[in-house]
Amino acid sequence: MNRNTNDKKDQPSRVPFYIQLVNDMIDNIDKNIYKPGEKLPSIRHMSEARGLSIMTVLKAYQELLSRGYIVSRPQSGYYVIGNQTADDLQKHIRLSTPRHVEMPDMTRLVLLDSSNEALVPLGSGVPSESLLPLNRLTRITTRLLQSHQVPLHITGNAEGCANLRIQLAKHMFLSNTPAKADDIIVTSGCNESIFIAFSVTCNPGDLVAVESPCYFGTLQILQELGLRAIEIPVEKENGIDVEILKTALEQNPIKAIFVNSNCNNPLGSIIPEAKKKMLAELTEKYNVPLIEDDSIGDLYFGRIRPGTIKSYDKKGLVLYCSSFSKVLAPAYRVGWIVPGKYKNQVIQFKHALNLSTSPLLQESIAAYLEDGAFERQMRKARQAYFQKILQMGDCIRDTFPEDTVISSPKGGIFLWVTLSPKIDTVLLYHDARAKGISIAPGRMFSIHDTYSNCLRLNAAFYTPEIKTVFYMLGSLIRKYE
Ligand SMILES: Cc1ncc(COP(=O)(O)O)c(C=O)c1O
Repeated sequence: MNRNTNDKKDQPSRVPFYIQLVNDMIDNIDKNIYKPGEKLPSIRHMSEARGLSIMTVLKAYQELLSRGYIVSRPQSGYYVIGNQTADDLQKHIRLSTPRHVEMPDMTRLVLLDSSNEALVPLGSGVPSESLLPLNRLTRITTRLLQSHQVPLHITGNAEGCANLRIQLAKHMFLSNTPAKADDIIVTSGCNESIFIAFSVTCNPGDLVAVESPCYFGTLQILQELGLRAIEIPVEKENGIDVEILKTALEQNPIKAIFVNSNCNNPLGSIIPEAKKKMLAELTEKYNVPLIEDDSIGDLYFGRIRPGTIKSYDKKGLVLYCSSFSKVLAPAYRVGWIVPGKYKNQVIQFKHALNLSTSPLLQESIAAYLEDGAFERQMRKARQAYFQKILQMGDCIRDTFPEDTVISSPKGGIFLWVTLSPKIDTVLLYHDARAKGISIAPGRMFSIHDTYSNCLRLNAAFYTPEIKTVFYMLGSLIRKYE
């Protein structure tokens, strides 16, 4: 079915109106638009101003009351809580505010840009076509079809094909994360793995902790599952701040933690081994499952393959998620999950979701891995992406304003660019798009407005020939300064 850009407009948001109002009010309180001690608009006034029923506004105010943002004074009205100490405020800001996840429409626009061939796809998340073994995979798939080796009249089972699960066990072993074939469930991509992982560990309305900035696909999943999120900042280049995560776990009923451990999207950071171990210990101490996304881990720039949090998991609380989308073929939609103690729930959920992942494509990937060409292919891709990241970084330094800050990725295909705080990269997105360039604005990577002056650029498409595109972006940015 053809989907057009207006779909979202026609579809009602899944987030209830009262929660949308709660989120907006929390934003206003966070930004000091409504200050401590200040009176909120009356229920009638708010209902007329927002076009909501009295009951909806009442429900929103009650939610704000129960979350401790406002107080009700009899005969007088509702007031923003006052008398917060500087310390309380500081903690509040550092921990961010738990809130229902509602992603901006921007995310959908940027995703649609990826398949628009008229645009320079700097905002996309896909790898470079020339660095994928697509011909080889096509030959394997054709051979499998012609030889009728894969029965096309049955669906396959929810756990996945035996051949692929054995290859995945070898692959995991080489990533220093031993797993038996039996412990691995095949999925239709890493997004599906993450979706299943949250579905089996959380219920609608539950609170989860995510790193910030966070891969926007995860935020979309939280939105669809009706989950609330608390954002935990990352330490520069070293991944999620464990101390702040610990405070969050102590103060909130967190039901799951999400971490993109290696070659993080969007920062390119790799969590150091010691911190991976600490994270596994923390999940044990607080008995909270941790969902680890390692889908870009094979694109490291260092000497050895970074390890995983899963490798330190003693109690089966880590749900490890990955796929071959960044390194073999995004369109094959083959991923996997190693769900630890949630194995039975994951199999049941996968079965209910879509019975199985395409057996033909599973067998194709299994045959490719059996061939032994994977590591050679990966070496080529890693070197090429490393060069592209360096070249694109130099190009940005040449063409963007001087106060631009660029990330130093330890792997992957993305650069995270921080511009002057005066610049709103959503405006930049629209202006750049009018000139045929797509970028990913920072707002997509958070449920707050934290990264409004940031953008993510995909280096997979970088060649020195497109330097003019960066001159164009640079001059657009200067226009706002
Ligand atoms: C960090 C991260 N996780 C998951 C995904 C989704 O992977 P898949 O295409 O296998 O569903 C992506 C895709 O961009 C990603 O960057």
